[in-house]
Amino acid sequence: MNFFNTNISEEAVAGVERVLRSGMLSEGRLVAQFEQKLRDELGIRGPVALNSGTSALHLALVVAGVGDGDEVIIPAQTFIATGMAVLMQGAKPVFADIQPITGNIDPDSIRAKLTERTRAIIPVHWAGYPCDMDEIAAVAAEADAAVIEDAAHALGASYRGRPVGALSRFTAFSFQAIKHLTTGDGGALACLEAQDEHAARTQRWFAIDRANSHESLLGEREYDAVSIGFKYHMNDVAAAIGVGNLPAVPRILARHQAIADRYAKELAQTPGLELTDRRSDRVSANWFFPVLVERREDFIHQLRARECVASVVHRRIDTNSVFGGKAAGLPGQDAFDERQCALPIHMGLTDDDVGRTIAAINEGW
Ligand SMILES: Cc1ncc(COP(=O)(O)O)c(C=O)c1O
Repeated sequence: MNFFNTNISEEAVAGVERVLRSGMLSEGRLVAQFEQKLRDELGIRGPVALNSGTSALHLALVVAGVGDGDEVIIPAQTFIATGMAVLMQGAKPVFADIQPITGNIDPDSIRAKLTERTRAIIPVHWAGYPCDMDEIAAVAAEADAAVIEDAAHALGASYRGRPVGALSRFTAFSFQAIKHLTTGDGGALACLEAQDEHAARTQRWFAIDRANSHESLLGEREYDAVSIGFKYHMNDVAAAIGVGNLPAVPRILARHQAIADRYAKELAQTPGLELTDRRSDRVSANWFFPVLVERREDFIHQLRARECVASVVHRRIDTNSVFGGKAAGLPGQDAFDERQCALPIHMGLTDDDVGRTIAAINEGW
């Protein structure tokens, strides 16, 4: 049993072959088509397709005007990409505490960390379970800080009836290999405001406005880059994988939900295991199933002995030297870090796999 798997449809395979045979591999028609589908089929607002989720986070910070010496509030409970993107902009990651029952950033702790230098807040939807976005939006408004959601785990999640990707000024998605929707590697930055979308679209490719720059007689586009730009665009090979895989997303999300519901039901009474919060006002993308367990190493040993798997997925990132070492004063993070673990949810799991995992846990550890 694997903890993650990769979803590739036959249409994705055929689509990649068509692109390869066309000789047009870079950003083109399929990237535009992929963006259109993200918008029309998943309700994502102003999506700009990129080469990774990390690029999406970084580009959001660029477009938001975050720079040298600014502070960006993030949780430590995330993948290191969230913090790296902040450092790439010369800004300082400030670690806010999390809610130990969800792993998500605590809006009250964000408020306590605000300073005059705060320019952005990056909530991370841990395992795909949406953060308290209304409370976070209110704190951000007080500080005039941009909200950049890190939705690397949360494609298909929703909050109070609205999809993640239509809530905040920016939302960063990842389409890396093991995500619900993969393009091999890839990402998208969703932008609520048209001018942010335009800036992201331009800056993803060297700040050259492709739509409004035409080739001259001399054989190169005529352009004037007015800001810094990056090589962050998605290419048509990746977009063909995305376009081919996209129709399966509703089925994938439904299967993830069904597995999560079964874990929640059949592990509700398990001694030594606590379920994380699942409120009725939001729908998780259930990328994996987070639980809080006593004696975590024994728990993992027990599952491995039964040929099942569990993983912490990511440990807190503040402990890395690049961020200055373990941050003090984060009791929620400390508590979560001690007990958090996760069970697999993916399309490669059979009902029998899920049943064996539950049975192994309910034997005790
Ligand atoms: C929370 C989080 N943020 C950002 C990223 C970065 O995404 P990518 O690998 O597409 O750059 C990841 C990757 O899994 C992630 O888990």
